[in-house]
Amino acid sequence: MEKIVSLAKRRGFVFPNSEIYGGLASAYDYGPLGVELKNNIKKLWWKFFIQDREDMVGIDGNIISSPKVWEASGHIENFKDPMIECKNCHARYRADKGGKKLKIKLNKLIEGFDKNLKTGADIPTYRDSDVDLSGNCDFCGAKPNGENFTPPRSFSGMFRTHLGPVEENAEIVYLRPETAQNIFINYKNILNSTNKKIPFGIGQIGKAFRNEITTGQFIFRTFEFEQMEIEYFIPDPELTGFDWEKSFDEWKEKMNQFAEMIGLKKDEFENIEISKEERAFYSKRTIDTEYKYPFGQEELWGLAYRGNYDLSRHQDYSKEDLRYFDEKLEGKEKKYLPHVIEPSFGVDRALLAVLCSAYDDSEKERIVLKLPPVLAPYKIAVAPLLGNKPELIEKARSVFELLKKEWHCVWDDRGNIGKRYKSQDEIGTPYFVVIDFDSLEDDSVTIRDRDTMEQKRIKISDLEKYFENKFSF
Ligand code: GAP
Repeated sequence: MEKIVSLAKRRGFVFPNSEIYGGLASAYDYGPLGVELKNNIKKLWWKFFIQDREDMVGIDGNIISSPKVWEASGHIENFKDPMIECKNCHARYRADKGGKKLKIKLNKLIEGFDKNLKTGADIPTYRDSDVDLSGNCDFCGAKPNGENFTPPRSFSGMFRTHLGPVEENAEIVYLRPETAQNIFINYKNILNSTNKKIPFGIGQIGKAFRNEITTGQFIFRTFEFEQMEIEYFIPDPELTGFDWEKSFDEWKEKMNQFAEMIGLKKDEFENIEISKEERAFYSKRTIDTEYKYPFGQEELWGLAYRGNYDLSRHQDYSKEDLRYFDEKLEGKEKKYLPHVIEPSFGVDRALLAVLCSAYDDSEKERIVLKLPPVLAPYKIAVAPLLGNKPELIEKARSVFELLKKEWHCVWDDRGNIGKRYKSQDEIGTPYFVVIDFDSLEDDSVTIRDRDTMEQKRIKISDLEKYFENKFSF
């Protein structure tokens, strides 16, 4: 992990946020190469899951929504409990509930007050509590002694802010803790504005914010992060006989395919079936895909069958009829609330997994980031063999201009060619095109391959054809 964090900073993938002021815990900024890599992951996801499918559309929702959205989604209610967390495996327990093996005895609650969003009245909420722990962590077996568990904290995972010019009179609003709710609240708009018929899905990429109790492990768990989420709306299985399990399995396969497209090897990730006891009560099946990060196997992304929980909550709270009119349905009852299958990805965790999988320091001479070419920040480096020969520079510039029309290229004429190769290997540039003195005579260039280090001579006029299919998936 240290090697990856160091490379990420040294080469401009990820910087600690506010570093000149001593940093801000668990906050990072993506640098010139990081933003390219991140955008490429998002572009690939968007193409694969949205644009290439006739049954999908995308949206880009607001980060701040009406607070009623979060009442309906259950976030306001459910993020208000005093929690304790196992520092070893990050399992969280409600301080008033405990786990199967971890027993928690609540001695006292110290209450504070929050405003009820609907009535404006003060409502008591836990501020702090005093507990005794016994047994051990359900998940990793850690004993509740010494430093293993955080003290109980009244924990709101939601970041709050105020809407309006005067803070005292302003409405409390929240930064979204997931992108998914924008999809539910727009599902009717999308039915009305497109020709989509169930089953169909809505995808979205965007920032989400969570006031996490524990953070750490670089960009794995941060307060501000990005999600790529899909809600796939399916007919009510009970009413229509729709085979949700088949659809769920198809999504599982697509997600595995995406993992491989971004360069994760099959033995580096694992799909874990979440047991009934651990699933949300409304979910009939949930899979967490875990990746073997250097610091341990941890959640990368997830897939959940959520039934019609979200739409029914929004229907109750908004009093809007969110049912779908299914003209194919026989008999009187043609309306129902669709069910959803939710593939939910974290961009930053995916990017971290991509870096971990691609990082290769097994060769003595060099470090190589073996990124899939479709994700590489720069696709092609172009350079004159010698950086001080005007005739070479001129020729190389014309090749650079030609290639950069189509692909993201980098001009790299610093130092000797060996050093330049190494430097590009380390940031994952798949090809290096070099213009030498022969090029002036034969209009050919040398292409060096990042992974094999093989060099090939090719005519400049054939270059575009050569690279044509190299960066797609
Ligand atoms: N709508 C469902 C949902 O939000 P989740 O498992 O809470 O589900 C989905 O989040 C994904 O978002 C996770 O699998 C992870 O990739 C990413 N994620 C969640 N919290 C995160 C955090 N604090 N930092 C970075 N990524 C996070």
